[in-house]
Amino acid sequence: MPKKKKSKSKSKGLFALEKGPTPSKMEPKEITGLYNVGPGQKFQTEEDIIKFFKYKLEEKLGEGGFGVVYIAVDQTTNARQACKMCQLGNNMNDSRIMDMKNELFIMEKVKHLYIVKLMKHFMCLTPTGNRLYIFMELADGGDFGKFMSKTGPLTEPQAKLYFAQIICGINHMHSLGIAHRDIKPGNILLKKDTTSLTGDFLLLVTDFGLSRIQHHDNQGQIAMNRTVCGTPIFMAPEILLRKPYVAFGVDIWALGVTLYIMMTSHLPFDFRDRAKAVKDMVEKKWTFDEDVMKSKPSKEYCSLMQRMIDPNPEQRITMQQLTKDKWLADSYNKAQKLANQLKRKK
Ligand SMILES: Nc1ncnc2c1ncn2[C@@H]1O[C@H](COP(=O)(O)OP(=O)(O)O)[C@@H](O)[C@H]1O
Ligand SMILES: [Mg+2]
Repeated sequence: MPKKKKSKSKSKGLFALEKGPTPSKMEPKEITGLYNVGPGQKFQTEEDIIKFFKYKLEEKLGEGGFGVVYIAVDQTTNARQACKMCQLGNNMNDSRIMDMKNELFIMEKVKHLYIVKLMKHFMCLTPTGNRLYIFMELADGGDFGKFMSKTGPLTEPQAKLYFAQIICGINHMHSLGIAHRDIKPGNILLKKDTTSLTGDFLLLVTDFGLSRIQHHDNQGQIAMNRTVCGTPIFMAPEILLRKPYVAFGVDIWALGVTLYIMMTSHLPFDFRDRAKAVKDMVEKKWTFDEDVMKSKPSKEYCSLMQRMIDPNPEQRITMQQLTKDKWLADSYNKAQKLANQLKRKK
């Protein structure tokens, strides 16, 4: 039956998730449980709902533009988790609702050792505004940005083993067709784990508020993104220059800036003058301050850095090439092996 064959070959190059429903077309109730709170309702307060799900909120862990993150205790198991409480306003068409739908949808799909695990979620609808509660795996070692500001520059062998874990997590997302779009050390969390690659922490990719499923266009090319998003110092030049961009390549750039920071504790480009920073990116005007580094950077590391922060997105190293890169491949394979071994546990 030729007809069947045709549709098969057409869908061959598509990402796993672009065939299914996308969060933008889904109602909030299709994504999470909605609970009315207030007089005359089953639940009088948000606390009643939290209790109903057998959780207890404890101390504050962190804060962001969205709201607050608390430690939560799952009272059925006494296990500690993290609870991200997002303040959403009471308009269901709010852009924050859009981000939250994406965040939850994506967290449901990405299950991997190096990605923070989603445990439970629901939204409380109150007369003063809606609040989303996301319960997830607790990262009890803080975030990678704070960790690096304490440790200072890492050695190459250390950097490799941490970076390989981040690459494993992001590669998993990319292989499903999801771009993270806000990669930076502050969105990589640490979980104490003596069985991890470095024997101290497991690295967990988090914060999927800006993550999006990517699609192919009619010509079978990956569709371009246009939204300017992310954190400026991690943004690729094509975004800063307001060009349409391929989100996977932009993730690679942000990973490159992250790897540069890991080895130097500095930024590759000086954003005090943003226009100059963009000019330097495009002209590849960046160097290593070897005086601050633990040792002279290896040829392999320098070559990888050049290919990650390549201003030409068409020439920039791809995720597939990155996993096979001379500097990274061994550590990447170790990180992946560990993820495969622990798959059943997660
Ligand atoms: N699972 C978690 N375990 C521990 N701390 C967390 C967890 N999730 C978030 N945090 C803390 O809250 C901060 C903000 O969370 P994040 O998801 O990055 O939100 P935002 O969208 O505001 O950046 C993190 O930098 C971290 O300090
Ligand atoms: Mg964040």
